[in-house]
Amino acid sequence: MYGGGYIGPDEPKLQDDQDDPAKLAIFEARIEAGEKIEPNDWMPAGYRKQLIRMIEQHAHSEIIGALPEGTWITRAPSLKRKLALLAKVQDEVGHGQLLYAAAETLGKSREAMINDLINGKSKYSNVFNYPAETWADIAVIGFLVDAAAIVNQISNSKGSYGPYCRALERICYEEAFHLKQGHDAVVALATGTPSQREMVQAALNRWWPPLMMFFGPPDKMSSHTEKLMKWKVKMASNEHMKQEFLDTYVPKVFELGLTLPDPNLKKNNETGKWEYTEPDWDEFMRVINGDGPCNKERLAVRRWAEENGRWVREALIKKDEKHAIPLA
Ligand code: COA
Repeated sequence: MYGGGYIGPDEPKLQDDQDDPAKLAIFEARIEAGEKIEPNDWMPAGYRKQLIRMIEQHAHSEIIGALPEGTWITRAPSLKRKLALLAKVQDEVGHGQLLYAAAETLGKSREAMINDLINGKSKYSNVFNYPAETWADIAVIGFLVDAAAIVNQISNSKGSYGPYCRALERICYEEAFHLKQGHDAVVALATGTPSQREMVQAALNRWWPPLMMFFGPPDKMSSHTEKLMKWKVKMASNEHMKQEFLDTYVPKVFELGLTLPDPNLKKNNETGKWEYTEPDWDEFMRVINGDGPCNKERLAVRRWAEENGRWVREALIKKDEKHAIPLA
């Protein structure tokens, strides 16, 4: 496993913070009209910063997310499951590459992003800091974490920044297959022996609280939503995406005769909204700030990959052009 950092010049200077009011007005009118913003277009410094933050965190999530699933490739219960998981993990790493490339168009180098990840400066999705204890955890991740990611990514793919939206469109096609393989594995366990049912139920119970945090804090606690929605980077609020996820996927869990570990989870027919117990947001804050059950282990693996892959990146460097020679 090789690290993905480029050896190259330091992070280029970002655009000056001084936002020209006339240019800002034209930019906002373009956003309002639903136009896509492209890398060489003028954009306010805040828009650029927010996009780098969000796309970078997203890219790291794809790369770190491959780690818990990757450890199950050799332990998958059949050749068919092994092949499907292998292909999925490969896709996820590819998604990370697409997203790093999209973030690079905004002026932050891949090496700087990787450094911020392995030094613990950047965030990545809370869900990947929990252990995958059994094969059923892999089934539940493939089904429900990928389902949640699809809801989030389809929404973001309709946004305003061209390179991010195009990357997400491709990612969503592949995620649809991941969801199918996860759902298929959950169905096999849920309709299997009593101990298989027990195993998948236990995995659901473990994954539900982190999943309820996946879309981020409640809207009133979300620091970035207002600005991101104004600029059409985010097309729906955290709670809106969570409602969409619950609407589509809770019935699919219930139809398998499985349960979810929240006695308050039910759809209110008057409001048309799901009611649920708020997850432990203190735990969420600890986990996203580096103190979850697996944060240290995840970053240690990435640090190892970065160090041990350095000689490959150096061997690929084309001295005169100072960037890695593409392999294909
Ligand atoms: N895991 C880790 N951190 C999270 C998170 C999660 N599930 N949800 C929110 N956060 C972080 C935010 O990054 C932000 O931290 P920061 O200010 O240090 O960058 C903080 O919690 C406050 O959240 P909020 O203001 O609601 O952030 P947001 O408006 O960016 O919304 C997402 C959060 C995840 C919905 C949004 O960033 C997003 O759509 N990201 C791209 C897709 C993605 O990364 N998906 C996950 C992997 S598939």
